[in-house]
Amino acid sequence: AQPQQQQPPVQPPPSVLLLPLPLQGPINCFLKLAHLLTLSSDHLNITFLNAEFVHQRLPDLPTRLPRVNFSLFSDGVPGDDPRPPEKFASMVSFFENEVIRCLPEFLKSPAPATCLVVDGVFPAVVERAKELGIPVVYFSTLSPCCIWANSFLVPKLFDSGEVPFKKGMDLNEPVSDIPGEEEISLRWCDLPGICRTHDTTDPYIQLVLKECRELPKAQGHILNTFDDLEEHLLAELRSLCPNLYTIGPIHLHSRTRLEPVTEQRVTSNSLWQEDRNCITWLDSQPSESVIFVSFGSVVPMTIDQLIEFQYGLVNSGVRFLWVRRPGSLVGIEDSSLQVPTEILEERGFIVEWAPQEEVLAHRAIGGFLTHSGWNSTLESIVEGVPMLCWPNGIDQLVISRFVGDVWKIGIDMKDKCDRVVIEDMVRDLMVRRRDEFSKRADRLSKSAAQAVREGGSSWQGLHRLIQDIKFMRL
Ligand code: UDX
Repeated sequence: AQPQQQQPPVQPPPSVLLLPLPLQGPINCFLKLAHLLTLSSDHLNITFLNAEFVHQRLPDLPTRLPRVNFSLFSDGVPGDDPRPPEKFASMVSFFENEVIRCLPEFLKSPAPATCLVVDGVFPAVVERAKELGIPVVYFSTLSPCCIWANSFLVPKLFDSGEVPFKKGMDLNEPVSDIPGEEEISLRWCDLPGICRTHDTTDPYIQLVLKECRELPKAQGHILNTFDDLEEHLLAELRSLCPNLYTIGPIHLHSRTRLEPVTEQRVTSNSLWQEDRNCITWLDSQPSESVIFVSFGSVVPMTIDQLIEFQYGLVNSGVRFLWVRRPGSLVGIEDSSLQVPTEILEERGFIVEWAPQEEVLAHRAIGGFLTHSGWNSTLESIVEGVPMLCWPNGIDQLVISRFVGDVWKIGIDMKDKCDRVVIEDMVRDLMVRRRDEFSKRADRLSKSAAQAVREGGSSWQGLHRLIQDIKFMRL
């Protein structure tokens, strides 16, 4: 009798499960990634694990992304909760436990997953996925400059006891060179937010340190940046995680592949209602005359800080469009502080939430007063808009140093909130040093566009990611 021919085992079709942290920044990045994956490959099943409250706020997702399966579950926080930063660690932990509990189910249905793409804040999921035989790729939506600091610098500073900072220490002293930047260092005040703690047992700190320790355990690492922007720093990160996929700026990458062009502005992933009246207002303003003021989706502000910003902006004489997010003011009702109506009629406009990408692309915008969140920073770089940075924590303190001193496309107002300083710096940004910042911002904007064009570094990064996802096995 003929020996029976051995049949090769049947491989399941490639199928990727996306798991974002359910906050505005990461959700936006993961949805854009899902979109890019569907556009770039017909042979990939994509399932998106979405928190119920996100899905409720973005009811058009299944229509906008018809090739993506959405699996829903709860993040344990009521839908209308503003999700303040102090709840962050407990929310991540609830979400992570829930994902780990349900992972075997998620991996089976609706299609058997062959790869998991998970937010960098969920290191425990990597362990569990490996036990279940599924390869994992991290997608860190924070800035690579902060991931670099958290990986190469911060753990040593905690170990040596230099962090938390001692009383009376000069935070303007340098602590480390920035890779590739001979004369520019990171100072103590530029270190990531976790270094400003007084309590090293804080669960958020433990989470960040664990995240960095575990980075090399994933099969690969997606970063929302482009090679030209952070070349030297990325080289150092590659020594830790050789398989980096730089595919950003992801919003531009996704926009560049949308046809026709008119569709570009209608695909918003905003979790808040956008007030489009500000676009009509901007239409009536002179070119590059308005500073856009927005502090992202999580940064809180005290009433004293708000008053300083208000005086600083009004006294600068510069036109402004200001996002005042409901619930962002701590310790007081939002409505209790009004900008005088004559100023609003003359040169100011206030909204609760704006179509930010569209605002930054508007010809009337000449500068951006920002908290230096990574998405806001990339959105500003893409549009060539110089920034005045008022960072609050997380990665923002590192990013603002890069904006001010490495890329030199704006001013770092770190740790100051004084009406006279604000007035002066707004004038610097919008009037006195405008040409100098604009020239460099234009150059970076062109370089970002080049990266996502066919053959560019981020275009190549995406294609390599898709190929690898299709064939990735443990
Ligand atoms: C959080 C962290 O705070 C930040 O440090 C980190 O880099 C990413 O995760 P967030 O504070 O929300 O993010 O800031 P950012 O990353 O800038 O994201 C905010 C997003 O909300 C941007 O995509 C921006 O376009 C959008 N946005 C903001 C609007 O669409 N409208 C607004 O009015 C304000």
